[in-house]
Amino acid sequence: MPNAATISKRISKPHLEVQGNYALSGELKVSGAKNSALVLMAASLLTEEKLLLENVPQLTDIEGMSEILLTMGVNLRQEKDELHIQAADLHHVELPYELVHGLRASFFCIGPLLARLGRAKIPLPGGCEIGARPVLEHIKGLKALGAYINVEHGVVTASVPGTQKRLKGTDVVLDCPSVGATETILMAAVLAEGQSSIENAAQEPEIQDLAKLLNCMGANISGAGGPKITIKGVKQLHGCNYTVMPDRIEAGTFLIAAAITRSKLNVAPVIPEHLNAVLQKLRDCGCDLQINEDGIEITPGEIEGVDITTQPFPGFPTDLQAPFMALMATAKGTSVITEKIYENRMKHVPELQRMGASIRLQGNTAVIEGVPQLSAAPVSGGDLRSTAAMVLASLSAQGVSKVEGLTHLDRGYAALEEKLNQAGARILRY
Ligand code: UD1
Repeated sequence: MPNAATISKRISKPHLEVQGNYALSGELKVSGAKNSALVLMAASLLTEEKLLLENVPQLTDIEGMSEILLTMGVNLRQEKDELHIQAADLHHVELPYELVHGLRASFFCIGPLLARLGRAKIPLPGGCEIGARPVLEHIKGLKALGAYINVEHGVVTASVPGTQKRLKGTDVVLDCPSVGATETILMAAVLAEGQSSIENAAQEPEIQDLAKLLNCMGANISGAGGPKITIKGVKQLHGCNYTVMPDRIEAGTFLIAAAITRSKLNVAPVIPEHLNAVLQKLRDCGCDLQINEDGIEITPGEIEGVDITTQPFPGFPTDLQAPFMALMATAKGTSVITEKIYENRMKHVPELQRMGASIRLQGNTAVIEGVPQLSAAPVSGGDLRSTAAMVLASLSAQGVSKVEGLTHLDRGYAALEEKLNQAGARILRY
Protein backbone atom coordinates (compact mmCIF):
# COMPACT_ATOMS: atom_id res chain seq x y z
CA MET A 1 0.00 0.00 0.00
CA PRO A 2 1.32 3.46 -0.75
CA ASN A 3 1.93 5.66 2.25
CA ALA A 4 0.88 9.29 2.72
CA ALA A 5 4.20 10.60 1.37
CA THR A 6 4.07 8.58 -1.87
CA ILE A 7 0.40 9.48 -2.40
CA SER A 8 1.22 13.15 -1.94
CA LYS A 9 4.14 12.85 -4.40
CA ARG A 10 1.99 11.05 -6.97
CA ILE A 11 -0.84 13.59 -6.93
CA SER A 12 1.40 16.65 -6.84
CA LYS A 13 1.67 18.36 -10.20
CA PRO A 14 4.27 20.97 -11.18
CA HIS A 15 3.27 24.09 -9.32
CA LEU A 16 4.31 27.44 -7.91
CA GLU A 17 4.26 28.22 -4.23
CA VAL A 18 3.47 31.89 -3.85
CA GLN A 19 3.98 33.64 -0.51
CA GLY A 20 1.38 36.37 -0.66
CA ASN A 21 0.95 39.83 0.79
CA TYR A 22 4.42 41.18 -0.09
CA ALA A 23 4.87 44.51 -1.81
CA LEU A 24 6.78 44.62 -5.11
CA SER A 25 9.21 47.34 -6.15
CA GLY A 26 11.58 48.26 -8.96
CA GLU A 27 11.01 47.24 -12.55
CA LEU A 28 9.33 44.38 -14.39
CA LYS A 29 10.82 43.71 -17.80
CA VAL A 30 8.49 42.89 -20.65
CA SER A 31 9.56 40.29 -23.24
CA GLY A 32 8.74 40.19 -26.94
CA ALA A 33 5.12 39.54 -27.86
CA LYS A 34 4.18 35.85 -28.01
CA ASN A 35 1.27 36.31 -30.40
CA SER A 36 3.39 38.42 -32.70
CA ALA A 37 6.43 36.15 -32.65
CA LEU A 38 4.29 33.10 -33.51
CA VAL A 39 2.81 34.67 -36.61
CA LEU A 40 6.13 36.21 -37.67
CA MET A 41 7.60 32.71 -37.52
CA ALA A 42 4.84 31.53 -39.88
CA ALA A 43 5.63 34.48 -42.16
CA SER A 44 9.23 33.26 -42.43
CA LEU A 45 7.89 30.52 -44.73
CA LEU A 46 7.20 33.18 -47.37
CA THR A 47 10.83 33.54 -48.41
CA GLU A 48 13.71 31.20 -49.07
CA GLU A 49 16.10 33.79 -47.70
CA LYS A 50 17.31 34.16 -44.11
CA LEU A 51 15.20 35.92 -41.53
CA LEU A 52 16.51 37.03 -38.17
CA LEU A 53 13.84 37.67 -35.56
CA GLU A 54 15.05 39.50 -32.46
CA ASN A 55 13.34 39.86 -29.07
CA VAL A 56 11.63 36.46 -29.42
CA PRO A 57 10.35 35.35 -25.99
CA GLN A 58 11.55 32.00 -24.63
CA LEU A 59 8.26 30.14 -24.30
CA THR A 60 6.97 26.63 -24.88
CA ASP A 61 4.61 27.98 -27.57
CA ILE A 62 7.64 29.28 -29.48
CA GLU A 63 9.28 25.84 -29.08
CA GLY A 64 6.07 24.27 -30.45
CA MET A 65 6.07 26.57 -33.49
CA SER A 66 9.79 25.83 -34.01
CA GLU A 67 8.99 22.09 -34.05
CA ILE A 68 6.34 22.70 -36.69
CA LEU A 69 8.74 24.68 -38.90
CA LEU A 70 11.43 22.01 -38.45
CA THR A 71 8.92 19.33 -39.51
CA MET A 72 8.51 21.22 -42.78
CA GLY A 73 12.25 21.23 -43.43
CA VAL A 74 12.97 24.76 -42.25
CA ASN A 75 16.44 25.56 -40.97
CA LEU A 76 16.05 27.13 -37.54
CA ARG A 77 18.42 28.14 -34.77
CA GLN A 78 17.59 29.93 -31.52
CA GLU A 79 20.21 31.85 -29.56
CA LYS A 80 18.61 33.36 -26.47
CA ASP A 81 16.02 35.78 -27.83
CA GLU A 82 17.28 35.63 -31.42
CA LEU A 83 15.71 33.27 -33.88
CA HIS A 84 17.49 32.55 -37.16
CA ILE A 85 15.11 31.03 -39.71
CA GLN A 86 15.63 29.98 -43.29
CA ALA A 87 12.88 28.22 -45.21
CA ALA A 88 14.98 27.47 -48.31
CA ASP A 89 14.03 23.78 -48.52
CA LEU A 90 10.39 23.87 -47.62
CA HIS A 91 8.71 20.42 -47.90
CA HIS A 92 5.07 19.73 -48.46
CA VAL A 93 4.03 17.67 -45.44
CA GLU A 94 0.81 17.04 -43.60
CA LEU A 95 1.38 18.53 -40.18
CA PRO A 96 0.64 16.02 -37.39
CA TYR A 97 -2.64 16.75 -35.55
CA GLU A 98 -0.87 16.61 -32.17
CA LEU A 99 1.40 19.54 -33.12
CA VAL A 100 -1.42 21.62 -34.58
CA HIS A 101 -3.92 20.95 -31.80
CA GLY A 102 -1.33 21.79 -29.15
CA LEU A 103 -0.65 25.13 -30.79
CA ARG A 104 -3.51 26.77 -32.65
CA ALA A 105 -1.19 29.41 -34.13
CA SER A 106 0.33 26.64 -36.26
CA PHE A 107 -2.78 26.85 -38.47
CA PHE A 108 -1.47 30.26 -39.55
CA CYS A 109 1.10 28.39 -41.69
CA ILE A 110 -1.66 27.61 -44.21
CA GLY A 111 -1.48 31.07 -45.85
CA PRO A 112 2.31 31.14 -46.36
CA LEU A 113 2.38 27.49 -47.50
CA LEU A 114 -0.25 28.16 -50.16
CA ALA A 115 1.50 31.32 -51.29
CA ARG A 116 4.92 29.66 -51.46
CA LEU A 117 4.24 26.03 -52.45
CA GLY A 118 0.75 26.27 -53.92
CA ARG A 119 -0.54 23.61 -51.53
CA ALA A 120 -0.97 22.86 -47.86
CA LYS A 121 -2.45 20.15 -45.68
CA ILE A 122 -3.18 21.09 -42.08
CA PRO A 123 -5.50 19.43 -39.58
CA LEU A 124 -8.25 21.66 -38.17
CA PRO A 125 -6.88 22.90 -34.86
CA GLY A 126 -10.17 22.27 -33.02
CA GLY A 127 -11.37 24.05 -29.90
CA CYS A 128 -9.41 24.76 -26.76
CA GLU A 129 -10.00 25.48 -23.08
CA ILE A 130 -11.63 28.85 -23.73
CA GLY A 131 -13.96 28.10 -26.63
CA ALA A 132 -14.71 26.54 -30.02
CA ARG A 133 -12.32 28.76 -32.01
CA PRO A 134 -13.50 28.22 -35.59
CA VAL A 135 -11.31 28.95 -38.65
CA LEU A 136 -14.12 29.52 -41.14
CA GLU A 137 -13.05 33.10 -41.84
CA HIS A 138 -9.49 31.98 -42.67
CA ILE A 139 -10.88 29.41 -45.12
CA LYS A 140 -13.35 31.83 -46.70
CA GLY A 141 -10.57 34.35 -47.31
CA LEU A 142 -8.26 31.77 -48.90
CA LYS A 143 -11.08 30.57 -51.16
CA ALA A 144 -11.74 34.18 -52.23
CA LEU A 145 -8.05 34.40 -53.20
CA GLY A 146 -8.63 31.46 -55.53
CA ALA A 147 -7.53 28.48 -53.43
CA TYR A 148 -9.36 25.16 -53.69
CA ILE A 149 -10.12 23.98 -50.21
CA ASN A 150 -11.44 20.66 -49.05
CA VAL A 151 -12.13 19.88 -45.41
CA GLU A 152 -12.44 16.17 -44.78
CA HIS A 153 -11.80 13.92 -41.79
CA GLY A 154 -10.68 16.96 -39.81
CA VAL A 155 -7.96 17.92 -42.28
CA VAL A 156 -7.88 21.03 -44.47
CA THR A 157 -6.38 20.32 -47.90
CA ALA A 158 -5.72 23.48 -49.87
CA SER A 159 -4.24 24.03 -53.31
CA VAL A 160 -3.82 26.79 -55.84
CA PRO A 161 -5.07 25.89 -59.34
CA GLY A 162 -3.25 26.74 -62.57
CA THR A 163 0.28 26.23 -63.81
CA GLN A 164 1.62 29.37 -62.09
CA LYS A 165 0.21 28.24 -58.73
CA ARG A 166 -0.27 31.85 -57.77
CA LEU A 167 -3.21 33.13 -55.74
CA LYS A 168 -5.23 35.99 -57.24
CA GLY A 169 -5.70 39.31 -55.49
CA THR A 170 -9.26 40.04 -54.40
CA ASP A 171 -11.37 42.01 -51.91
CA VAL A 172 -12.23 40.08 -48.75
CA VAL A 173 -14.80 41.27 -46.23
CA LEU A 174 -14.56 39.45 -42.92
CA ASP A 175 -17.77 38.62 -41.04
CA CYS A 176 -15.92 39.19 -37.75
CA PRO A 177 -12.57 40.94 -37.24
CA SER A 178 -10.67 37.73 -36.50
CA VAL A 179 -6.99 38.27 -35.67
CA GLY A 180 -5.93 34.90 -37.05
CA ALA A 181 -8.02 35.20 -40.24
CA THR A 182 -6.64 38.68 -40.93
CA GLU A 183 -3.10 37.30 -40.50
CA THR A 184 -3.75 34.25 -42.69
CA ILE A 185 -5.25 36.29 -45.52
CA LEU A 186 -2.54 38.94 -45.26
CA MET A 187 0.22 36.34 -45.56
CA ALA A 188 -1.53 34.64 -48.48
CA ALA A 189 -2.22 37.89 -50.34
CA VAL A 190 1.32 39.33 -50.23
CA LEU A 191 2.51 36.97 -52.95
CA ALA A 192 -0.80 36.95 -54.91
CA GLU A 193 -1.16 38.35 -58.39
CA GLY A 194 -2.65 41.85 -58.26
CA GLN A 195 -4.20 43.86 -55.45
CA SER A 196 -6.18 42.58 -52.44
CA SER A 197 -7.99 44.24 -49.61
CA ILE A 198 -9.27 43.00 -46.26
CA GLU A 199 -12.29 44.85 -44.90
CA ASN A 200 -13.48 44.55 -41.30
CA ALA A 201 -9.88 43.51 -40.61
CA ALA A 202 -8.69 42.93 -37.04
CA GLN A 203 -6.90 46.05 -35.77
CA GLU A 204 -4.78 44.42 -33.06
CA PRO A 205 -1.15 45.62 -32.80
CA GLU A 206 0.01 42.12 -33.80
CA ILE A 207 -1.46 42.79 -37.26
CA GLN A 208 0.67 45.92 -37.56
CA ASP A 209 3.75 44.02 -36.42
CA LEU A 210 3.12 41.37 -39.08
CA ALA A 211 2.56 43.97 -41.81
CA LYS A 212 5.78 45.76 -40.76
CA LEU A 213 7.77 42.54 -41.02
CA LEU A 214 6.22 41.69 -44.40
CA ASN A 215 6.93 45.20 -45.74
CA CYS A 216 10.49 44.83 -44.45
CA MET A 217 10.62 41.59 -46.52
CA GLY A 218 9.55 43.49 -49.63
CA ALA A 219 5.74 43.32 -49.45
CA ASN A 220 3.49 46.26 -50.28
CA ILE A 221 0.88 46.58 -47.52
CA SER A 222 -0.91 49.70 -46.31
CA GLY A 223 -3.62 50.35 -43.75
CA ALA A 224 -2.63 47.61 -41.25
CA GLY A 225 -3.92 48.58 -37.79
CA GLY A 226 -7.06 50.05 -39.34
CA PRO A 227 -10.29 48.35 -40.50
CA LYS A 228 -9.21 48.11 -44.17
CA ILE A 229 -5.88 46.72 -45.29
CA THR A 230 -4.67 46.99 -48.88
CA ILE A 231 -2.09 44.59 -50.25
CA LYS A 232 -0.42 44.95 -53.62
CA GLY A 233 0.91 41.51 -54.48
CA VAL A 234 4.62 41.11 -55.23
CA LYS A 235 6.40 38.23 -56.97
CA GLN A 236 8.74 37.35 -54.15
CA LEU A 237 9.92 38.39 -50.70
CA HIS A 238 13.42 38.55 -49.30
CA GLY A 239 15.07 38.02 -45.92
CA CYS A 240 15.56 40.72 -43.25
CA ASN A 241 16.22 41.38 -39.57
CA TYR A 242 13.20 42.30 -37.48
CA THR A 243 12.60 43.01 -33.79
CA VAL A 244 9.38 41.65 -32.27
CA MET A 245 7.31 44.31 -30.49
CA PRO A 246 6.91 44.14 -26.68
CA ASP A 247 4.15 41.90 -25.35
CA ARG A 248 1.17 44.10 -24.48
CA ILE A 249 -0.58 41.31 -22.58
CA GLU A 250 2.48 40.57 -20.43
CA ALA A 251 2.84 44.32 -19.81
CA GLY A 252 -0.82 44.53 -18.80
CA THR A 253 -0.38 41.54 -16.50
CA PHE A 254 2.57 43.28 -14.80
CA LEU A 255 0.64 46.55 -14.37
CA ILE A 256 -2.16 44.55 -12.74
CA ALA A 257 0.46 42.80 -10.54
CA ALA A 258 1.49 46.25 -9.30
CA ALA A 259 -2.13 47.27 -8.70
CA ILE A 260 -3.11 44.06 -6.90
CA THR A 261 -0.11 44.26 -4.55
CA ARG A 262 -0.63 48.05 -4.19
CA SER A 263 3.01 48.50 -5.24
CA LYS A 264 4.72 51.24 -7.19
CA LEU A 265 6.47 49.64 -10.16
CA ASN A 266 7.99 50.48 -13.51
CA VAL A 267 6.94 48.22 -16.37
CA ALA A 268 9.06 48.40 -19.52
CA PRO A 269 9.30 48.31 -22.45
CA VAL A 270 5.69 49.13 -23.30
CA ILE A 271 4.05 50.78 -26.29
CA PRO A 272 1.32 52.69 -24.38
CA GLU A 273 -1.02 52.97 -27.40
CA HIS A 274 -1.24 49.18 -27.41
CA LEU A 275 -2.81 49.29 -23.96
CA ASN A 276 -5.02 52.40 -24.00
CA ALA A 277 -8.21 50.61 -22.89
CA VAL A 278 -6.37 48.85 -20.06
CA LEU A 279 -4.55 51.99 -18.92
CA GLN A 280 -7.88 53.84 -18.81
CA LYS A 281 -9.42 51.15 -16.59
CA LEU A 282 -6.38 51.16 -14.31
CA ARG A 283 -6.71 54.95 -13.96
CA ASP A 284 -10.47 54.64 -13.38
CA CYS A 285 -9.95 52.16 -10.56
CA GLY A 286 -7.44 54.39 -8.73
CA CYS A 287 -3.93 53.96 -10.22
CA ASP A 288 -1.68 56.84 -11.16
CA LEU A 289 0.22 56.13 -14.39
CA GLN A 290 3.28 58.00 -15.62
CA ILE A 291 4.20 57.25 -19.20
CA ASN A 292 7.99 57.33 -19.55
CA GLU A 293 10.18 57.12 -22.60
CA ASP A 294 9.93 53.35 -22.91
CA GLY A 295 7.78 52.24 -20.01
CA ILE A 296 5.01 53.00 -17.55
CA GLU A 297 5.38 53.80 -13.85
CA ILE A 298 2.31 52.76 -11.94
CA THR A 299 1.41 53.99 -8.45
CA PRO A 300 -1.77 52.37 -7.17
CA GLY A 301 -4.03 54.25 -4.76
CA GLU A 302 -7.09 52.78 -3.12
CA ILE A 303 -8.48 50.41 -5.74
CA GLU A 304 -12.19 50.75 -6.51
CA GLY A 305 -14.43 48.51 -8.59
CA VAL A 306 -14.82 49.37 -12.29
CA ASP A 307 -16.76 47.56 -15.01
CA ILE A 308 -15.15 46.04 -18.07
CA THR A 309 -16.41 44.37 -21.24
CA THR A 310 -13.94 42.60 -23.49
CA GLN A 311 -13.89 43.72 -27.12
CA PRO A 312 -11.65 43.43 -30.18
CA PHE A 313 -8.82 46.02 -30.25
CA PRO A 314 -8.90 48.92 -29.38
CA GLY A 315 -11.33 47.64 -26.73
CA PHE A 316 -10.35 45.88 -23.50
CA PRO A 317 -8.47 42.65 -24.46
CA THR A 318 -10.02 39.32 -23.56
CA ASP A 319 -6.52 38.09 -22.67
CA LEU A 320 -6.46 40.46 -19.66
CA GLN A 321 -9.99 39.73 -18.47
CA ALA A 322 -8.98 37.05 -15.94
CA PRO A 323 -6.04 39.04 -14.50
CA PHE A 324 -8.25 42.13 -14.17
CA MET A 325 -10.90 40.10 -12.39
CA ALA A 326 -8.31 39.04 -9.81
CA LEU A 327 -7.65 42.75 -9.19
CA MET A 328 -11.35 43.55 -8.93
CA ALA A 329 -11.73 40.76 -6.36
CA THR A 330 -9.61 42.95 -4.04
CA ALA A 331 -11.24 46.32 -4.93
CA LYS A 332 -13.56 48.47 -2.86
CA GLY A 333 -17.11 48.14 -4.16
CA THR A 334 -18.68 46.26 -7.03
CA SER A 335 -17.53 45.63 -10.57
CA VAL A 336 -19.18 43.88 -13.48
CA ILE A 337 -16.97 42.03 -15.97
CA THR A 338 -18.45 40.74 -19.23
CA GLU A 339 -16.60 38.40 -21.60
CA LYS A 340 -17.68 38.95 -25.20
CA ILE A 341 -15.00 37.20 -27.25
CA TYR A 342 -14.94 33.62 -25.96
CA GLU A 343 -17.82 31.50 -24.73
CA ASN A 344 -15.89 29.62 -22.06
CA ARG A 345 -13.50 32.05 -20.45
CA MET A 346 -14.71 32.22 -16.86
CA LYS A 347 -12.97 29.16 -15.39
CA HIS A 348 -10.95 31.34 -13.04
CA VAL A 349 -14.14 32.34 -11.19
CA PRO A 350 -14.47 29.21 -9.01
CA GLU A 351 -10.72 29.31 -8.30
CA LEU A 352 -10.87 32.95 -7.21
CA GLN A 353 -13.88 32.04 -5.08
CA ARG A 354 -11.74 29.41 -3.36
CA MET A 355 -9.40 32.25 -2.39
CA GLY A 356 -12.28 34.10 -0.73
CA ALA A 357 -13.38 36.27 -3.69
CA SER A 358 -17.05 37.18 -3.77
CA ILE A 359 -18.21 36.64 -7.38
CA ARG A 360 -21.62 35.86 -8.85
CA LEU A 361 -21.49 34.43 -12.34
CA GLN A 362 -24.40 34.73 -14.76
CA GLY A 363 -23.43 33.30 -18.13
CA ASN A 364 -20.43 35.30 -19.28
CA THR A 365 -20.97 38.16 -16.85
CA ALA A 366 -19.34 38.18 -13.43
CA VAL A 367 -20.46 40.51 -10.64
CA ILE A 368 -17.61 40.96 -8.21
CA GLU A 369 -17.92 42.39 -4.70
CA GLY A 370 -14.39 43.26 -3.63
CA VAL A 371 -13.11 41.83 -0.34
CA PRO A 372 -10.43 43.46 1.84
CA GLN A 373 -8.07 40.47 1.61
CA LEU A 374 -7.93 37.25 -0.38
CA SER A 375 -6.73 34.14 1.42
CA ALA A 376 -4.16 31.70 0.07
CA ALA A 377 -5.40 28.38 -1.31
CA PRO A 378 -4.35 25.61 -3.68
CA VAL A 379 -5.65 26.73 -7.08
CA SER A 380 -5.34 25.65 -10.68
CA GLY A 381 -5.50 27.72 -13.84
CA GLY A 382 -7.50 26.14 -16.65
CA ASP A 383 -5.82 28.17 -19.42
CA LEU A 384 -2.89 30.52 -19.95
CA ARG A 385 -4.42 33.78 -18.75
CA SER A 386 -6.46 32.29 -15.92
CA THR A 387 -3.26 30.74 -14.53
CA ALA A 388 -1.65 34.19 -14.65
CA ALA A 389 -4.70 35.51 -12.80
CA MET A 390 -4.13 32.87 -10.09
CA VAL A 391 -0.52 34.01 -9.68
CA LEU A 392 -1.65 37.63 -9.32
CA ALA A 393 -4.37 36.75 -6.81
CA SER A 394 -1.81 34.70 -4.85
CA LEU A 395 0.61 37.65 -4.73
CA SER A 396 -1.97 39.65 -2.82
CA ALA A 397 -3.46 36.85 -0.71
CA GLN A 398 -2.71 36.18 2.96
CA GLY A 399 -0.58 33.01 3.21
CA VAL A 400 1.06 30.59 0.80
CA SER A 401 -0.86 29.57 -2.32
CA LYS A 402 -0.12 26.60 -4.53
CA VAL A 403 -0.74 27.43 -8.19
CA GLU A 404 -1.04 24.58 -10.69
CA GLY A 405 -1.42 24.91 -14.45
CA LEU A 406 2.21 25.64 -15.29
CA THR A 407 2.01 24.02 -18.72
CA HIS A 408 -0.42 26.82 -19.56
CA LEU A 409 1.66 29.53 -17.88
CA ASP A 410 4.92 28.55 -19.58
CA ARG A 411 3.24 28.82 -22.98
CA GLY A 412 2.91 32.57 -22.64
CA TYR A 413 4.97 34.11 -19.82
CA ALA A 414 8.76 34.01 -20.09
CA ALA A 415 10.38 33.38 -16.69
CA LEU A 416 7.38 34.83 -14.87
CA GLU A 417 8.37 33.88 -11.35
CA GLU A 418 11.99 34.99 -11.87
CA LYS A 419 10.86 38.41 -13.05
CA LEU A 420 8.40 38.79 -10.16
CA ASN A 421 10.96 37.55 -7.61
CA GLN A 422 13.45 40.16 -8.80
CA ALA A 423 10.81 42.74 -7.95
CA GLY A 424 10.39 41.32 -4.42
CA ALA A 425 7.88 38.49 -4.83
CA ARG A 426 8.46 35.17 -3.06
CA ILE A 427 7.65 32.43 -5.51
CA LEU A 428 9.14 28.95 -5.69
CA ARG A 429 8.65 26.44 -8.47
CA TYR A 430 8.21 22.71 -7.70
C1 UD1 B 1 -5.77 35.70 -31.18
C2 UD1 B 1 -4.79 35.54 -30.04
C3 UD1 B 1 -5.51 35.27 -28.73
C4 UD1 B 1 -6.57 36.34 -28.48
C5 UD1 B 1 -7.48 36.49 -29.68
C6 UD1 B 1 -8.48 37.63 -29.52
C7 UD1 B 1 -2.90 34.57 -31.22
C8 UD1 B 1 -2.00 33.39 -31.39
N1 UD1 B 1 -3.91 34.41 -30.35
O1 UD1 B 1 -6.45 34.44 -31.33
O2 UD1 B 1 -4.55 35.29 -27.67
O3 UD1 B 1 -7.36 35.95 -27.35
O4 UD1 B 1 -6.70 36.75 -30.86
O5 UD1 B 1 -7.82 38.82 -29.25
O6 UD1 B 1 -2.68 35.60 -31.80
N2 UD1 B 1 -13.95 33.62 -34.94
C9 UD1 B 1 -14.97 33.17 -35.76
N3 UD1 B 1 -14.64 32.63 -36.98
C10 UD1 B 1 -13.34 32.53 -37.39
C11 UD1 B 1 -12.30 32.99 -36.55
C12 UD1 B 1 -12.66 33.54 -35.32
O7 UD1 B 1 -16.15 33.24 -35.41
O8 UD1 B 1 -13.11 32.03 -38.49
C13 UD1 B 1 -14.29 34.18 -33.61
C14 UD1 B 1 -13.74 33.32 -32.48
O9 UD1 B 1 -14.64 32.28 -32.17
C15 UD1 B 1 -13.62 34.31 -31.35
C16 UD1 B 1 -13.29 35.60 -32.05
O10 UD1 B 1 -13.64 35.42 -33.42
O11 UD1 B 1 -14.87 34.46 -30.71
C17 UD1 B 1 -11.85 36.01 -31.93
O12 UD1 B 1 -11.05 35.06 -32.56
P1 UD1 B 1 -9.70 35.46 -33.32
O13 UD1 B 1 -9.62 36.95 -33.38
O14 UD1 B 1 -9.66 34.69 -34.58
O15 UD1 B 1 -8.62 34.94 -32.31
P2 UD1 B 1 -7.29 34.15 -32.64
O16 UD1 B 1 -6.63 34.70 -33.82
O17 UD1 B 1 -7.58 32.68 -32.63
